[in-house]
Amino acid sequence: MAGKLMHAVRYDGYGGGAAGLKHVEIPVPAPKNGEVLLKLEATSLNPVDWKIQKGMLRPFLPRKFPFVPGTDVAGEVIEIGPGVKNFNAGDKVVAMLNHTVSDQLHLYLNNGGGLAEFAVAKESLTVKRPAEVSAAEAAALPIAGLTALQALTDSAGVKLDGGASEKQKNILITAASGGVGHYAVQLAKLGNVHVTATCGARNIEFVKSLGADEVLDYKTPDGAALKSPSGRKYDAIIQCASAMPWSTFEPNLSDNGKVIDITPGPSALATFALKKLTFSKKQLVPLLLIPKAQNLEYLVGLVKEGKVKTVIDSKHPLSKAEDAWAKSIDGHATGKIIVEP
Ligand SMILES: NC(=O)c1ccc[n+]([C@@H]2O[C@H](COP(=O)([O-])OP(=O)(O)OC[C@H]3O[C@@H](n4cnc5c(N)ncnc54)[C@H](OP(=O)(O)O)[C@@H]3O)[C@@H](O)[C@H]2O)c1
Repeated sequence: MAGKLMHAVRYDGYGGGAAGLKHVEIPVPAPKNGEVLLKLEATSLNPVDWKIQKGMLRPFLPRKFPFVPGTDVAGEVIEIGPGVKNFNAGDKVVAMLNHTVSDQLHLYLNNGGGLAEFAVAKESLTVKRPAEVSAAEAAALPIAGLTALQALTDSAGVKLDGGASEKQKNILITAASGGVGHYAVQLAKLGNVHVTATCGARNIEFVKSLGADEVLDYKTPDGAALKSPSGRKYDAIIQCASAMPWSTFEPNLSDNGKVIDITPGPSALATFALKKLTFSKKQLVPLLLIPKAQNLEYLVGLVKEGKVKTVIDSKHPLSKAEDAWAKSIDGHATGKIIVEP
């Protein structure tokens, strides 16, 4: 592919939202050691993509401008770099375009590259995609699915395969209609969990159809107070909505209840420190996703078996990537937003 040009969508600096995206023709990247070159079939957007553009992760990301955003991709391997052992040209795969800085410190950098016709992925964050799972269903999984999985299993201690003999856990999932939330509800129901969920009124039936036992409209007083209709106290709250004060969570938590906060701002981090220092039984746990191929493989398997489904909010051609970008910034997706080259 050396010297061949491809269509890509990128930005040259911070800010600008959808209008800051530019359509360009740039060289197809070449796979280096341990990398595979993919012809992309689908890319899913995540709020972190536009948060990086906004400068919310500066000075770490992006590492340089111009930057082609998008990390969650599905496609076909068309070339393998030196040292690649597990993939061959023609394999259908799903990948997360991240760069490992340190496994010990769990530091990963969003490499970007997904809003394009081709992208290079690390073999270590690439997983085969079975024919039963479409490219769009697979591309939706990496950030949203892995965050939901790690929040429930690693942070909230839910056992997804089994756990029937254990005491049932009560879990609240906020923003259950979104990318992370819709996977979290379905995954939680694979364990012995009673799920309470919050979403907007228009999505109540949808979130029930994912398996939630009780659903609250976040715009009602009880919904805003996160109050379980059946009077339950939560063993864990998977907080996917934007920041809320500790005083909203506290009365709803069981004695040893935890808030797993996937959107921690400065006040959540202060609460985290305070609860730790005072040995509080109720804790706030900030969560940062750790990309792991084995977790991604597990999720792809669940989709293949029909145990979890990807719900697609909308699909947009790469030529109209700015529509998908604006939709994500708007914050009202039901499920995942997909871009297709
Ligand atoms: N820490 C990490 O590693 C990590 C990983 C992934 C995501 N995140 C963060 O987690 C957040 C959620 O991500 P996402 O991909 O799920 O976002 P998303 O798909 O954009 O979420 C949109 C959904 O959230 C609902 N919503 C918004 N505010 C709500 C509220 N107060 N209560 C209930 N529902 C609400 C919206 O419903 P309506 O349309 O009805 O308003 C919409 O359906 C983002 O801030 C993202 O950056 C963090």
